[in-house]
Amino acid sequence: MSNFVNVTHDGDVAIVTIDNPPVNALSFHVREPLMQALVSLRDDASVAAIVVACAGRTFVAGADITEFGKPMQQPELRAIVATLEAIAKPTVAAIHGTALGGGLELALGCHFRVADAGARLGLPEVKLGLLPGGGGTVRLPRLVGAVKALRMIVSGVPIGADEAHAAGLVDAVFKGDLTAHAVNFAREIARKGGPYTPVRDRDDRLVETDLAAFDAEAAELARKARGLEAPIACAQSVRNAITLHFDEALAAERALFVKLVASDQSRAQRHLFFAERESAKIPGKDVVKRRIARVGVIGAGTMGGGIAMAFANGGFSVTLLETSDEALQRGLGIIDKNYAVSVSRGSLTEEAKRQRLAQFKGSTDFADLADCDLIVEAAFEDMAVKKEIFGKLDAVAKPGAILATNTSYLDIDEIAASTSRPQDVLGLHFFSPANVMKLLEIVRADKTAPDALATVVDLARRIGKVAVVVGVCHGFVGNRMLAARGAESEALLLEGATPRQIDRAFTDFGWPMGPFQMGDLAGLDIGWRNRKARGQTAVIADTLCEQGCFGQKTGRGFYRYENGSRTPVPDPQVEALIHEKATEKGIVPRAISAEEIIERTLYPLINEGAKILEEGIAARASDIDVVWVNGYGFPVGKGGPMFWAGLHGAARIIERLEHWHQRTGKQVFQVAPLLRRMAETGSWEAGATA
Ligand code: 3HC
Repeated sequence: MSNFVNVTHDGDVAIVTIDNPPVNALSFHVREPLMQALVSLRDDASVAAIVVACAGRTFVAGADITEFGKPMQQPELRAIVATLEAIAKPTVAAIHGTALGGGLELALGCHFRVADAGARLGLPEVKLGLLPGGGGTVRLPRLVGAVKALRMIVSGVPIGADEAHAAGLVDAVFKGDLTAHAVNFAREIARKGGPYTPVRDRDDRLVETDLAAFDAEAAELARKARGLEAPIACAQSVRNAITLHFDEALAAERALFVKLVASDQSRAQRHLFFAERESAKIPGKDVVKRRIARVGVIGAGTMGGGIAMAFANGGFSVTLLETSDEALQRGLGIIDKNYAVSVSRGSLTEEAKRQRLAQFKGSTDFADLADCDLIVEAAFEDMAVKKEIFGKLDAVAKPGAILATNTSYLDIDEIAASTSRPQDVLGLHFFSPANVMKLLEIVRADKTAPDALATVVDLARRIGKVAVVVGVCHGFVGNRMLAARGAESEALLLEGATPRQIDRAFTDFGWPMGPFQMGDLAGLDIGWRNRKARGQTAVIADTLCEQGCFGQKTGRGFYRYENGSRTPVPDPQVEALIHEKATEKGIVPRAISAEEIIERTLYPLINEGAKILEEGIAARASDIDVVWVNGYGFPVGKGGPMFWAGLHGAARIIERLEHWHQRTGKQVFQVAPLLRRMAETGSWEAGATA
C-alpha cells in the first residue's frame, strides 16, 4: 500500500487503484508501488482476478513527462507491463476519462479492457516528438489491426469508447459505476476459466495486413510529417510489429524511443506542452470570475462571424450585430454555410447544426446588446470607428459586462478611455478563421480589472483556445514580431533574392509556407491598405497592387496562379519588376544564401521578442513561443522562436545581428539587452545569472 496505489478486495477480485492527481501520470512514486502490488496479487492464491483502475477524473494519462530527460528510475513502465502480462489470472483495465500514452500501454498489458462510455483512448506521444515507448506500437496493432494502429499512433488523436469497442481495443463499454462493472466482468471471466491470451500473443489481426497498402499509407503520412522525426519513427515501429517477432519489435521500439526522447524536436515539443498550460496562468487566480452566458459580437464579416461561431461552438448564446439587415443576413448566411460544410464532412449532425444556429440572434440595434455579459467588437481597424462603437456600448451594456475589441494593432488604452468603464475593457485578438485557429491573444489594458482578465482567460479555455495574456503595444506580441520578420523581405528581393528562394528558405526551416506565398494567399491589398494608412511604402508589393495583382484571388501576385490553381508558379514579370526597381535604386544584385535569409528575417523576430519581454508585454518567453506556434505556423519541432534561440545559440544570433546592424544601420538589427543577457545566462528570465 502507498499513498499513490491502493489495493482493495471485492470477494476474490482485487482492485488496484492508482491515485496520483491530477491525471494519474505514471511517475516513479506510482510505478514502484504499482509493481509491488501486482507482484503480490500475482502470488496471492486467494485472488482470482485483478482490476486496474484509477481514482479521480481520469485513467492514467501517460508517463510523467517531467521525468523525461532525467535518469530513469526503476521499475520502468515496460517492466510493469511485462509483469502484468505474465499474470496467469485474468487482468482487467477499467478505463474512465482518458487512457493516453503509457496509460493505454498499461491497459494493453491487461488481458481485457473495459471502458466508461465517455472514455477516450489514444497514444498521443507523437505530439511530444516521441513514439509510444511502453510497447504501444507493438501491442495496439495486434488488437485493432496495423492500419488503424498506424493512423492512431501517427496522428496521436484519441478515439472514443464506442469506436475502441468496435475496433477491438476495448472488450466492453459501461455506463454508471465503472469499477463495479469491471469487478463483475472480471469475476465472470475468472468463473469461465482460462487460459487468458495476453495481447502479445494475439497475431490474428496482424497476419491479415496488406503490407503494400500499409506502406502506401505510411509513405503518405511521412510526406505530411514535414521534417518531424517522430511520425516517421511511429510508422516504422508499427511496421516492425508486422514484420518482426514481438520481442524484436519491442526492442526496436525502445531504441527509437531512446533516440527521440534525447532529440531537440522532442525537447521542443515537450516545452510547448508545458508552455501552453503555463500561458493560461495569471496572477490572482483566486479572484471571483464574472458569469458569462450571452456573448455579443459586433460585425458579421469574416472575423466577426468566425468569433461568433467560436463562442457558439463553446456553448454560448450569441447576439450578432451588424449595421444593416443586408450585412447581417450575409454574415448569418456564411455561418449557416460553414456549419453545412461541417455536416457534409460528418463532424456535425443536422440536428446539432440546427441547435447551433438556434444559439444565434441577429440584430442591427445596439440596444439588443444590453443582456450580453461579454461583447466583442470586430469592426474596421480604425480608431475613430472603434471609439464610436465603444461610446455606444458604454451607453447600452449592463454594469459589469466585459467590453472587448478584436483589434490587431490599435491602442486599447485609448479605446478604453472612450468609455466610463475602462476597468471592463480589454482586447481579444482572434486569428482568422477565428472558429478554427487556436490562438487567442488576450490584451490587458492599463486599467483592465483582474477579475475581467481572469474571466476571459477561463473563457478562452472553454471555447478551446490557447490563450496568451499580452500587454498593449503596436501589434501586441504576434504582429509586432511579424513586422520585424518582414522588415527585410523587400530589401532581400532588391538585393538579388527571388520570392521563391526566400519562401524556400522558410519552408526548409519548417514553416508551412514562406512570406510571399502567405501574402498572396491572404491578399496583398490588405498590407497595401495598412501601409497607405501609415504612410509607409514597399516598392515591389505596392507596384504589384497598383497593377491589380493582389495574389491568389486575382491569379497574380508575387507568383502566378494558372487557371484558378493554388500552386504558385514563379513569374518572370515579377522578377523583371524587382530587377527594374533595384536598378532604379542603383543596387547590383548578388547571390543571397538561405542562411542570410534566415539571419535577416528570423533573427530580428527573436530580437523583437526579447524587446517585448523586456517591456513586459509578454510575461514569459514561453508565452511568445505559444503565440508563434499556434498563430503563425512556427514549426512545432523547433519549439517557438525563443526556445529555438536557446537551442541555436543566442551568442551566434547576436554576432550576426551586430554584423547586419553595422552594415545597414537598421533598427531591427539593434541587439536587445535581454538577448545579450540570455547569451550570458542561458535564460530569458530578466534576473537570471550565469
Ligand atoms: N505528465 C506530467 N504532467 C502532466 C501530464 C503528464 N503525462 N499530463 C498532464 N500533466 C499536468 C499538466 O501539465 C497540468 O499541470 P499544471 O496544472 O501544473 O499546469 C496538469 O497535469 C493538468 O493537465 P491539463 O491542464 O492538460 O488538464 P486537462 O484536463 O485539460 O487535460 C489530459 C488532461 C487530456 C490528460 C492532458 O493533460 C494531456 O493530454 N496530457 C498528456 C497526455 C500525454 O501526452 N500522454 C503521453 C505521455 S508520454 C508517454 O506516455 C510515453 C510512454 O509511451 C512511455
